[in-house]
Amino acid sequence: MNNGDGNILEVKDLRTYFETEDGVVKAVDGIEFDLKRGETLGIVGESGSGKSVTNLSILRLIPTPPGRIASGEIIFDGQDILSLPQEEIRKIRGKRIAMIFQDPMTSLNPFLRISKQLMELTQLHLGYSKDQAYEHAIKMLETVGIPDARSRVDSYPHEFSGGMRQRVMIAMALSCEPELLIADEPTTALDVTIQAQILELIKKLKRETGTSVILITHDLGVVAGMTDHIIVMYAGKVFEQAPTRELFKCSGNPYTKGLLRSVPDPTSEQGALYQIPGLPPDVAHLPPGCPFEPRCERAEDICRKEFPPFVQLTADHHSLCHFAVPDSRDRAARHVRRQISNGAVDTIVHRARLGLMADDGAHRSRASHLAQKSGIRSCR
Ligand SMILES: Nc1ncnc2c1ncn2[C@@H]1O[C@H](COP(=O)(O)OP(=O)(O)O)[C@@H](O)[C@H]1O
Ligand code: SF4
Ligand SMILES: [Mg+2]
Repeated sequence: MNNGDGNILEVKDLRTYFETEDGVVKAVDGIEFDLKRGETLGIVGESGSGKSVTNLSILRLIPTPPGRIASGEIIFDGQDILSLPQEEIRKIRGKRIAMIFQDPMTSLNPFLRISKQLMELTQLHLGYSKDQAYEHAIKMLETVGIPDARSRVDSYPHEFSGGMRQRVMIAMALSCEPELLIADEPTTALDVTIQAQILELIKKLKRETGTSVILITHDLGVVAGMTDHIIVMYAGKVFEQAPTRELFKCSGNPYTKGLLRSVPDPTSEQGALYQIPGLPPDVAHLPPGCPFEPRCERAEDICRKEFPPFVQLTADHHSLCHFAVPDSRDRAARHVRRQISNGAVDTIVHRARLGLMADDGAHRSRASHLAQKSGIRSCR
């Protein structure tokens, strides 16, 4: 089924709550977004902002109890996922919507050979015979860049490095050519060289297969060159949403600006990174006003008293703030904009270059010098 406006996914007023001893945790509280077929959406926010719960809700993987989807609609290819029977959901999961996680071992069974784990998917969802599934498993490992795939396909997960396991998980996710790939912090645990390679791989596979992607990360630098749209989440709410270029050019929200300032500036002489002061709030006990108020440099009296409006700034750009204005002169984000206007669309491209340079012995010392300046400690 193909709906008229080209959206593969429409999330409407989604609310996912957890009943805890401490009260009701409103992990996701009324979020809305669309994803067009073939596009990539970035979901960005600090830890605890509701990114993973949003995506687990899409796959109906919220543990119940303590969790429940209190309201909303999740329209995938014209069908409301929330009203489908479990049996139908199982047919969608892994086949039409696939997910990759930060830790590959959440998807890989340590006791089963890689070949078996890849084969199970295509045998179950695509009806492949054993031989077909085995050949397909090898092809998928080749696609994600596992060297010598035929001789390694029968290995166990522990025989692969962290980066290689991540590739295997991507191979599993893409095995059935899903229409939607959800990548939840797929590179957070990896060092910068591998991180860049994995992101490049997702980009390449997306180009080749046309799959739609949701990329979740706490790092705005990662999504800059990877996504068409970005939503910024905080305390279970969408704080800002915009086309990627617009968000980087003229963010309209103090929280997004804080995240932008946290993106490392590779040209800065000062290696230190900015961090938004304070900590994310306890979503079981939110104050009546803006949840970001205790940490916000722009806050005024009204922010403590009244919940902010979701202000439309341009056709496709919204910001949750009493003082939302598109601000292209924000000094805090200047270094990110400079990288964009220089054609180095994103920090990760910069990091990717560092990573690739670091692979090349001749450039290793220059790469590590730049890495130190931009606060990247794991560049080897
Ligand atoms: N099973 C659970 N029980 C209670 N609270 C949960 C559960 N899973 C997530 N939460 C809470 O929901 C909020 C959002 O979590 P999550 O979506 O994982 O954040 P992140 O943006 O880091 O992915 C957090 O406050 C978290 O503690
Ligand atoms: S509403 Fe007030 S506290 Fe919240 S982000 Fe805007 S200025 Fe800051
Ligand atoms: Mg998460």
